[in-house]
Amino acid sequence: MRSHFAHTFALTVATKHLALAIQVMAPRTKVEKRWAEGGEKYTKDEFIEYYGQKKGQKKWDAAGEAAAPAKKAYGGKKAEKETKAEPKAKAKAKAKAKAKAKESGPRKTFKVCVCGGAGGIGQPLSLLMAQDPNVGELCVFDLNIAAVPPAGVAADLSHIEKKAAVKGYVIDVNDKAIDKLEECLTGCNLVLVPAGLPRKPGQTRDDLFKVNAGIAKGIVDACAKFCPEAILGLIVNPVNSIVPAMAELYKKKGLNPANIVGVTTLDCVRANKFVGEVTGKNPNFIRVPCIGGHAGVTILPLFSQDKAGASIDAEKIPDLDKKVQDAGTVVVEAKGGKGSATLSMAYAGARLGSSVLAGLAGRRRVECAYVASDITDLPYFTSKVVFGEKGVTKVLPLGDLSEHESKRLEEVKEQLKGEIETGLAYAKENDLS
Ligand code: NAD
Ligand code: LMR
Repeated sequence: MRSHFAHTFALTVATKHLALAIQVMAPRTKVEKRWAEGGEKYTKDEFIEYYGQKKGQKKWDAAGEAAAPAKKAYGGKKAEKETKAEPKAKAKAKAKAKAKAKESGPRKTFKVCVCGGAGGIGQPLSLLMAQDPNVGELCVFDLNIAAVPPAGVAADLSHIEKKAAVKGYVIDVNDKAIDKLEECLTGCNLVLVPAGLPRKPGQTRDDLFKVNAGIAKGIVDACAKFCPEAILGLIVNPVNSIVPAMAELYKKKGLNPANIVGVTTLDCVRANKFVGEVTGKNPNFIRVPCIGGHAGVTILPLFSQDKAGASIDAEKIPDLDKKVQDAGTVVVEAKGGKGSATLSMAYAGARLGSSVLAGLAGRRRVECAYVASDITDLPYFTSKVVFGEKGVTKVLPLGDLSEHESKRLEEVKEQLKGEIETGLAYAKENDLS
């Protein structure tokens, strides 16, 4: 039997280890929070969001206007000690903090709606958007024929310990969104649309156009009436034709076609992942822009524009390019007729959605998206886009292309042209209310 001494000794050692582990873990968590991806600086709002109003304001003031993630601005323990050693400076900072807090008021949040929010993409996408600190209100909208009632999805999400208030909206399959969604859509800043049929094995995205264009039009019609300034992130396929169709309908109604954004983020997410697998680098730090469109050969990953991607042997690039193009079909086949990519799409959609909201909040973000564009001879094209306070603030040029990418660009344009025309023809034949 172990003696009482041995037992106490073992307990003391274990407790010390635990205390040490906590000490080691605690600062690491905090330091990581202050580092933004790509070494960007955090804003005052983010400091306050993380540390709370009082402490955040104090730390912000101590760091000065440019609160960089590096030791220089934040100062770490040394700076904290110095602050302690100067009670006058501390009192001054406190008073300044109070005055500033009064000035800036509570952080602005946004209203977001997920249309098709009870579907395969809609549910996880709503889950992710409910966690975005920029979301104050989240509406989950779907039809009464959805697999789960949207009110149930909303009730479920409303228990997450985040600030977003979540509400469900349902309409009958025979009802028009424009007649029923006034409360849901009024005041929305961002509407994400994963409403529509997914592909089955053997189908192309184009095969979905007839049905899904009708679904998209019903939703876009209601947005045009109740939240014409909102950014509409269209996930519904075929993106290549539906986005031009809806953007032209917006134009016809005198609204801003740039508010219609085609969500192609999943292509970038896949390209980053695949480059990570080939190079052994962390995909979290890989940024492969994917340009063109979102179907087959129109998807063009620009591996040459990412450091890890550019390190891959030229002879491996055509296969890797094809792997990104075919990734959606691989998922459709693996799901055996029970749908297409939902979880990775929700991840990608939430990345785009969060970037749009960050932009609206004044923190510009760059993402690839399929938008009205004049950077090529096609009127709609995916490229890097700057999202700012007014949504799409700049469509960035393609940048330098490798020989393979330049050749592929011609193929992209040839295919995409016809798919855009399908959308333009739809917009000619139809009108919003
Ligand atoms: P799903 O069938 O699981 O969900 C679609 C949801 O939309 C359902 O809940 C349905 O009730 C709802 N819906 C249908 N008509 C509606 C309407 N008029 N108003 C509101 N809700 C409506 O499908 P999913 O797997 O979530 O895919 C949705 C769409 O997203 C498909 O068109 C799919 O091809 C597309 N998709 C696009 C990408 C991309 O990268 N852009 C990736 C994956 C899937
Ligand atoms: C995808 O790329 O996964 C989506 O466009 C869904 C599909 O039909 O492939």
